[in-house]
Amino acid sequence: MLDVLEYAARNQERYLSQLFEILRIQSVSADPARAGEVRRAGQWVADFLAGTGFEHISVMETGGHPAVYADWLHAPGTPTIMVYGHYDVQPEDPIDKWVIHPTPFEPTVKDGQIWGRGTSDDKAQFMPHIFALEAWLKVRGSLPCNVKIFIEGEEEGGTGGTHDFVRSHRDLLACDAVALSDTSWFSPEQPTIVYALRGISYFQVDVKGPARDLHSGVYGGMLRNPLNAIGQIIAGLQDDQGRLTVPGFYDDVVPLTEVEKDEFRKVAINDDERRKDLGVEALFGEAGYTSLERNWARPSFDVHGIWGGFSGEGSKTVIASEGGFKFSCRLVANQDPEKIRGLVEDHVRHLAPSGVKVDVKGLHGGTPVMVPVDNPFLKAGQDAVEAAFGKRPVLVREGASIPITAVFLEDLNAPSIMVGFGLDSDNIHGPDEHMPLSHFRNGIAACVHLYKAFAGVVIPSHSRVP
Ligand code: BES
Ligand code: MN
Ligand code: MN
Repeated sequence: MLDVLEYAARNQERYLSQLFEILRIQSVSADPARAGEVRRAGQWVADFLAGTGFEHISVMETGGHPAVYADWLHAPGTPTIMVYGHYDVQPEDPIDKWVIHPTPFEPTVKDGQIWGRGTSDDKAQFMPHIFALEAWLKVRGSLPCNVKIFIEGEEEGGTGGTHDFVRSHRDLLACDAVALSDTSWFSPEQPTIVYALRGISYFQVDVKGPARDLHSGVYGGMLRNPLNAIGQIIAGLQDDQGRLTVPGFYDDVVPLTEVEKDEFRKVAINDDERRKDLGVEALFGEAGYTSLERNWARPSFDVHGIWGGFSGEGSKTVIASEGGFKFSCRLVANQDPEKIRGLVEDHVRHLAPSGVKVDVKGLHGGTPVMVPVDNPFLKAGQDAVEAAFGKRPVLVREGASIPITAVFLEDLNAPSIMVGFGLDSDNIHGPDEHMPLSHFRNGIAACVHLYKAFAGVVIPSHSRVP
């Protein structure tokens, strides 16, 4: 494998400049005005693959943003691994908060970090897989195992069209395991493989009151203010521990076992350090659980934005005619996002006070996933990351969500091996997103090892892809 690793080491400058090319594309999947840019990023991946030896390269229509597919299936008797990643990114705003690196789509390397939107999430994480596979093909003319590449363009928006695409292309995408890098390390010194993710249900509530904005002195007191109603609904959704008050919400939650609690304790974080790092007066959450338990294995509720009325300088005495808010619930095994959606929508309607029109709708959802910790592909992942980073990764859960991993599990029966290279401090989704250059570079080496390690995994013949 030394020859492949050496090739990868020699090509680091090229990798970085090619990474910069895709980072410059403004593939913001949430912005309809930039749908062309999203597609262009997908096309960029396909064009890159065209020079590598991968076959059946195609930018596939999904109903939403397109996904890129390619395969190389000439290693009989080895597992088939699907590489997954997403080339779409989160919106860059608020742009004035990008202070260390003011140009989100003009990447740079500074202080050992790669700066720009989409570095850590997810372009500088999935490209190492593609660069490593290219290295194998360039040096050896073959890959250690069968590989399918599937890079989507709408993960950040909940992956609607791509979910349907996977469901209707099970044969095309059939595989024994999915390899992805779209998660972060447990701490800056601790390489990490994630074996479980939370799910999510995302909602928008629109509240309408009077037909026009009103003077709050002339009219106040004789009608319901829609923004007051918003406050009431939000308050009504949670108790003072942040627990959801939605009837039935916790019914399907699998309680933590003592064994799991012990495992969590072994990697426990220092609450006081965490508190300082986050700049909050106190950590907060459901009573009876540690911070990690709350984050990894308990549901949570967060409002993401509230709008309406006057929020400019100074004061204005107005009753706004309308407003709204967005919120989501993180879900854990065995909560079902569709069932939760119904329960939450009903409860919002129930909480809606008289005198305003409240419209609630679910925007998207994702099912929680968990890979049994004894899965042999996880161990192969640990071996590969250890070989490249010099330290054995821990297996941990993660509070965030990658909804498509549940579809891979349900529809392809394929576990997701989440070999992340990011750090929690990378500011993904926020201003000044970055990722350590060393993680990008060692990430490529880790991926060179990874596909070799996967090749040695023996899978039960009944579950093997023909
Ligand atoms: N890569 C993230 C998920 C993630 C972040 C995993 C940090 C581990 C550590 C992914 O792109 C993401 O942002 N997911 C969304 C899903 C949502 C848009 C449906 C999330 O978790 O909010
Ligand atoms: Mn991501
Ligand atoms: Mn993301």
